Amino acid sequence: MDIINPTDFRPDEVAPIRVDPPGKVTSMPSPTKLHHLHIFSDENYDKMVEFYKRLFNAEIVRVNPNGLTFITYDDHDHRVVIIKRPGAKRKPKNFIGVSHQAYCYSSLGELIYVYKRMKTWGYAPVWTVNHGNSTSFYYEDPDGNQVETMLDNFSPSDTKEYKRHYQWSEEFTAMGNPTFDADKMVKLYESGVPDSVLLDHTEVCKLIKAGKL
Ligand SMILES: [Fe+2]
Repeated sequence: MDIINPTDFRPDEVAPIRVDPPGKVTSMPSPTKLHHLHIFSDENYDKMVEFYKRLFNAEIVRVNPNGLTFITYDDHDHRVVIIKRPGAKRKPKNFIGVSHQAYCYSSLGELIYVYKRMKTWGYAPVWTVNHGNSTSFYYEDPDGNQVETMLDNFSPSDTKEYKRHYQWSEEFTAMGNPTFDADKMVKLYESGVPDSVLLDHTEVCKLIKAGKL
């Protein structure tokens, strides 16, 4: 990357996305997206940076010598920041607060690619599950924060209706959250079993029962 003298660079435009003149916003807006996470770390700082860089196929936009690394995986300036906090304590086992962060991918093929690549780097998921609404691979970063890589099993609006009307029904609850074997999932996927089967909660339960997943 070229080194640009900070005094030589200024962005051209302010807020290029949209300008709302006064009076245009007349009702309470919702956020457009989750922009970034700040994560405190200490002795695992470097390992944390490495983990997120690898998991997200990300780039490091800025490293501040006082212990801030800005990481991004798209055109935003940062998505995750790892912040060194010398002497900070680990979260207790039974803590209150954010349970995990979840990142959505575009296909089962992508999710499986991430799994296989992470495995070559020594990162194994701690839980692989079909929740009904989603297919999810959970990892733990070097400090033990959970990161879910996932896929909605249906289109977003169908998934919403699925959760609203079916996910906690008696029929669903009887099957629960089936944990699947990630390597068996890879094998089935690579042998040509369609996504419509591998993402389907009922089919996944059947395959697990048969020892195939
Ligand atoms: Fe989740």
